[in-house]
Amino acid sequence: MPKWLNDAVFYEIYPQSFYDSNGDGIGDINGIIEKLDYVAGLGCNAIWLNPVYDSPFMDAGYDVRDYYTVAPRYGTNEDLVRLFEAAHRKSMKILLDLVPGHTSDTHPWFQVAKRAKQSDLSNRYIFTKSVWDAPPEYRMMCGICERDGNYMVNYFSSQPALNYGFYDVTHPEWQLPHDHPDCRRTADAMMAVMRFWLDKGCDGFRVDMADSLVKNDEEKIATAKIWRRVRDMLDRDYPEAAMVAEWCHPDRAINNAGFHMDFYLDHYGNGYSRLFRFGEWGDLAVFNPNGLGDLKGFAEEYLPAYNRTKDNGYICFMTNNHDMPRVTAYLDKQAIKLVNAFIFTMPGVPFLYYGDEIGMRYQADLISKEGGFSRTGSRTPMQWNSGKNLGFSEGDRLYLPVDLSDDAPTVENQKDNPDSIYRIVTDMIALRHKYADLHGNGELEFMVRGEEIPFAYRRGGLVMFFNPLGREAEIDTGYDGDVVYKIGGAVIADGKVKLQPQSFLMMNTNP
Ligand code: NOJ
Repeated sequence: MPKWLNDAVFYEIYPQSFYDSNGDGIGDINGIIEKLDYVAGLGCNAIWLNPVYDSPFMDAGYDVRDYYTVAPRYGTNEDLVRLFEAAHRKSMKILLDLVPGHTSDTHPWFQVAKRAKQSDLSNRYIFTKSVWDAPPEYRMMCGICERDGNYMVNYFSSQPALNYGFYDVTHPEWQLPHDHPDCRRTADAMMAVMRFWLDKGCDGFRVDMADSLVKNDEEKIATAKIWRRVRDMLDRDYPEAAMVAEWCHPDRAINNAGFHMDFYLDHYGNGYSRLFRFGEWGDLAVFNPNGLGDLKGFAEEYLPAYNRTKDNGYICFMTNNHDMPRVTAYLDKQAIKLVNAFIFTMPGVPFLYYGDEIGMRYQADLISKEGGFSRTGSRTPMQWNSGKNLGFSEGDRLYLPVDLSDDAPTVENQKDNPDSIYRIVTDMIALRHKYADLHGNGELEFMVRGEEIPFAYRRGGLVMFFNPLGREAEIDTGYDGDVVYKIGGAVIADGKVKLQPQSFLMMNTNP
């Protein structure tokens, strides 16, 4: 287990939209290098970079055409290596995004595999035996290749699924078992990609749809086996490299598959939305000031997963990512401050999505860009200052428009504002680094008794008290301590913590 993860705080950079260093209207790697000090200044010591590989960008780069080459719009392989080096000089780590489940349909492997002529790449993707064979239970593209067969897609139509075989072979005429040599070769090819970038200095990978490899693998047994093989490679040859799964099933991702980290997302209704977002949870989201503030449902779902995995890896809470509306679409500023206090004081490894530190808004009305659809509104350019294009670019035509509102938050107008989300985010991250109790593997004890507000949890000697609701609340603790930090009006008096509406208090019980 790479030791650095225990005190890691990640910053997710969507490269298209972070900083444009050459005025062509789109963010680039040199732009990221220029802004590393900014990222470090937030207290983030690691970066997750969304895909920067060559791609036709039908899914913003999650449709890879060449795993070995940086997309020209972002720069060159040499630029990426310079980013690794510049980050390392500042004691920062960089994770690339690995997309192992599918490629672009323009990838040379697919160009060969879709031909009628048999080759050693014919089994790299999942083709049926003939075009008349299209089982409805699979997502297939039908009748568009020279080859007589339909192919399975993993996500959008332009993303054919790579072939890692089937766990339960139900159509032996076209499905390969997962231990077939050709399926093993697909995994070898992906491991070669990983080695290539690790040898160039990257510090690991965020793994896209990590659970999607072997098909009909209900319990993900064969999929986990592939990742175990990858983990063995890392342990042997790259022991400091880290992998975080987009799996959202920590037991499987961490305990079975050997990932160091797994995201806490909502893919399997695992409670992320129940905390910060409304959606199907309506008024029940914990941080909704008009809701119930009830952490119990979340705790009952999260704690067993945490307890089962805490000795083997980390669950990652994120402020947001490039796939979901920013939390500004759901919660007011005070609530968002509390959300950040929560995320950065929980165990595991936290992830901050670029722009969330200044409260960037979700741009709901944008036309889809590069397969973004509703996600486009969370992918707009970073807002740096009051200059041209809010400091993102000198260009006249932007990849996506910047927030045009008069009161758009920028780094410049938030940084020194004591009432800003920026202030809370940077303070919380600083406290996380300062107190070992708040590190990834520090203890956690939830004090959730029924549906009480405020709710509280203890991390070693520190206790976090939250009142997310729009009315006052108090809790009888029976103990005192020093106030380490507070948001909103909160006091400790006579063995009680009294919290004004929407407030937070961090208490140190062994000063
Ligand atoms: C998850 C990624 O986060 C998302 O942006 C992408 O579209 C899909 N996987 C497909 O690769």
